[in-house]
Amino acid sequence: MIEKEKIEEVKRLVDIVGVISQYVQLRKMGKNYRALCPFHHETEPSFYVSPEKRMFYCFGCKKSGNAISFLMEYEKLDFPAAVKKLAHSVGLEIDTSHGLKHKELYDTNESAAQYYSLCLTREVGKRGKQYLLERKTDINRLKEFHLGYAPTSGGLITYMRQKGISSDCLNKLGLISNGREVFRARIIFPIFNLSGRVIGFGGRGIDDNIKPKYLNSPESPIFKKGDVLYGLFQTRENIRQHNDAILVEGYFDLLSLYQHGFNYCAAPLGTSLTENQSSLIARYTKRVNILFDGDLSGIKAALRAIGLLINSQVDVFVTALPDEQDPDALIREGDEEKLRKAVKDAVDFFHFYRRMVKTDTVEQEVTLIKDLIQMISTIRDPIRQDRYIKYAAHVFDITEDKIKKEMRADEVEKPVIKKQRETKLTEGEQLIIWLISYREFVSLAREVLSSDDFEDKNLKKIYELLCKDDKISVDEIMEQSNEYVHERLIGPLMRNEPISQDGFTSALIRYKLRVEDRKQEVELARVKGNEEAEERVLRKHMELKRKLTNLSWDHVQAPQ
Ligand code: UTP
Ligand code: MN
Repeated sequence: MIEKEKIEEVKRLVDIVGVISQYVQLRKMGKNYRALCPFHHETEPSFYVSPEKRMFYCFGCKKSGNAISFLMEYEKLDFPAAVKKLAHSVGLEIDTSHGLKHKELYDTNESAAQYYSLCLTREVGKRGKQYLLERKTDINRLKEFHLGYAPTSGGLITYMRQKGISSDCLNKLGLISNGREVFRARIIFPIFNLSGRVIGFGGRGIDDNIKPKYLNSPESPIFKKGDVLYGLFQTRENIRQHNDAILVEGYFDLLSLYQHGFNYCAAPLGTSLTENQSSLIARYTKRVNILFDGDLSGIKAALRAIGLLINSQVDVFVTALPDEQDPDALIREGDEEKLRKAVKDAVDFFHFYRRMVKTDTVEQEVTLIKDLIQMISTIRDPIRQDRYIKYAAHVFDITEDKIKKEMRADEVEKPVIKKQRETKLTEGEQLIIWLISYREFVSLAREVLSSDDFEDKNLKKIYELLCKDDKISVDEIMEQSNEYVHERLIGPLMRNEPISQDGFTSALIRYKLRVEDRKQEVELARVKGNEEAEERVLRKHMELKRKLTNLSWDHVQAPQ
């Protein structure tokens, strides 16, 4: 656990605009900053950052939060990692290693990785070393990948016992099963998450009798295959700098490329690319070059990946390899130059898609055209999109208008979140929003309203927080509120519509009068039939309303 004070300090020191502008191009709009939302596809910017409120909010997809939650979402970090990163950026250091929910599991993986890499340096790992040598894998140039070897004879269990690590943990992580070590006679690839923790392992059998050829850790509380890309932890900074990533299929492809200077690669873990992996890589680059094997399954996987990546707003290119070749083999056979050229000559997704998808019938061609139009419709850059429309029109001999029409038809089908109307605010909600935005009104409100005047318990709570401490940060208020508040209030809050003191006062009085009316009704109903009591109630309320009206005149400034 990170102490609350530390978190508060980080929040105070961090400039949310500075943080977000590292990832998103922000433009100043009055008090706020605006951008295209990084969390959903849009063509008109509806993502806002308020330096004053230290919050971001998207009017389209409704995502909102502070600098910490932005980092968590954008970089797929857990809370401690995000705080740690922000702390570091403002010169604070925080030790988050203790108190993590899954600390024991992470630690166990860490020790296992240590064990495997140790083996590679010992006699027991001779065959592993030999195997890597044969594949021209140079572990000295791949230090940050912490490669290892799981000996045929095992040894992990003993090593872990000496370290006092429970076999329960080993079981949970899939390192042992039925009392036996799972990885044997395999080269080990530790899989890191973006915080640099080992979350699982891949293992390649050192001879072809070992089945399956590749074995991955099963999913565990800390390992979800479809959410990670192998190598990304080591390459993401390079990917960001290049604004380009090479997506490969396998562990060895990635390592070979890396070792030959292509240090901006990533690989899915033996399954075809998932949506999460696609949006993960899109966080680091707007251009991806797919470099899959030249065999049929590689091509099929590439076609699938193209669709996903385009949907993640990435410009997709594909490097076509000769039949049955994979990048690692090309390099190993000394054809590094060939590979370099192929990567340089990558073709855009449109070419590749059209070339690869067979069209024997008109119907197949229609499907192909529609698929491609769908992809074009998600291209973010209008100039590129226009180019592709022209290109498609030319290639398929259709008018541009028809393509545009098809693209619009496509849009209608998609749920258009942006157009979703916000329901009108209640008077109480509006008051609370003004009070959060303009703290100078809090003391005025206190003269008139008690917290019980808010029937809604969420609003009541916020009002109490404000009365207790009118300097309380928006962030703190949000943290103490529930989903309802987030959904209803953040949008209007970010809109920051100005209100004059007069305007606020009259709204306040109007609200209070209505509350009094309601109370009066209730009291009248209660004493119904008792004329004397009825009159008392009426008189009491009349008096109250008179006071309120006077108060309202006191606060309203005389016109000049
Ligand atoms: P390939 O069969 O193309 O492997 O699978 P490769 O990278 O060329 O392997 P080498 O060169 O023979 O060592 C590509 C990826 O698919 C996953 C692995 O992640 C592998 O890197 N895979 C493959 C498995 O998960 N299980 C398997 O049995 C085979
Ligand atoms: Mn291979």
